[in-house]
Amino acid sequence: MSISLHRGAYPNTRPRRLRAHDFSRRLVRENQLTTDDLILPLFVIEGRGETQQVASMPGVERLTVDLLTAKAKALVELGIPAVALFPVVDPSAKSDDARAAYAPDGLAQRAVRALKDAAPELGVITDVALDPFTSHGQDGLMDKQGYIVNDDTVEVLVQQALSHAQAGADVVAPSDMMDGRIGAIRGALERDGHVNTQIMSYAAKYASAYYGPFRDAVGSAGNLKGGSKVSYQMDPANGDEALHECALDLAEGADMIMVKPGMPYLDVVRRVKEELRVPTFAYQVSGEYAMHCAAFANGWLAREAVILESLLGFKRAGADGVLTYFAEEAAQLLRR
Ligand code: PBG
Repeated sequence: MSISLHRGAYPNTRPRRLRAHDFSRRLVRENQLTTDDLILPLFVIEGRGETQQVASMPGVERLTVDLLTAKAKALVELGIPAVALFPVVDPSAKSDDARAAYAPDGLAQRAVRALKDAAPELGVITDVALDPFTSHGQDGLMDKQGYIVNDDTVEVLVQQALSHAQAGADVVAPSDMMDGRIGAIRGALERDGHVNTQIMSYAAKYASAYYGPFRDAVGSAGNLKGGSKVSYQMDPANGDEALHECALDLAEGADMIMVKPGMPYLDVVRRVKEELRVPTFAYQVSGEYAMHCAAFANGWLAREAVILESLLGFKRAGADGVLTYFAEEAAQLLRR
């Protein structure tokens, strides 16, 4: 309908008419946030019966494996479909070759086994990237010049993804942004018999300043050598490139793709969903969580309403689901 048809349509056309009653607001509502849309990221640490508060993420705790399994049961009870697991290892487990990333009995691998044992119906998504395990905090292996080398890194990522699948991970989620890793991981999973292990690719992952609190949470911030990840994560100025990255990862075998961060990149979510029409996820990252919490703590924003509005925005943009540190609270709000 052209603009001219609307001109002068008032009072015949009164958009407020449908907003006047709850029944009609419900009838014409275009999008809905449900608990089925939510994925909760979880940080896991060594030990027993211990929690550690993440300073820059109020309300987010790192959990030992035993407490993680208790949490998993509560999440199933709430109806949350899946969690995304992030191991936080001791500095002594970090090395230049990141070998702890693929140890069959490593922290992530043990956590996956415990989760699948305690709550088999909860989907477990693992992070495939080397940053928790490298002494320099970068997502890949570093050469003498400080450059993150692609193909050697991919070989380690393949071993890491395989170890996750062998431990029982339902979904492996490469967040490293190396070229060609989805195809390499898919091939290795197929050869090893893990034909139904899903891949959720962090396909359009930007070199963002919003990851700061996460790097505190996994302890990779203090030691991030080189200072930035711009030689592999995407330039925040680019949109077309996100479509290219997503198309490549789909061609290599990704089942689902992700855009990250979330709220400042909803235009990218929209474009990816419209052009590629595949399962598309977005990550409301640690910095987005932290800034919301800061505003809530100051009484500047209304906590519950803003949490739900922020997540609904992802759905309106076209996302099929959201990774969010608010997942558990949002599920509780949606239950009411
Ligand atoms: C690392 C990884 C990061 C996040 C998820 N996986 C940080 C980074 O790339 O530096 C960020 C998540 C968040 O900020 O909530 N592979």
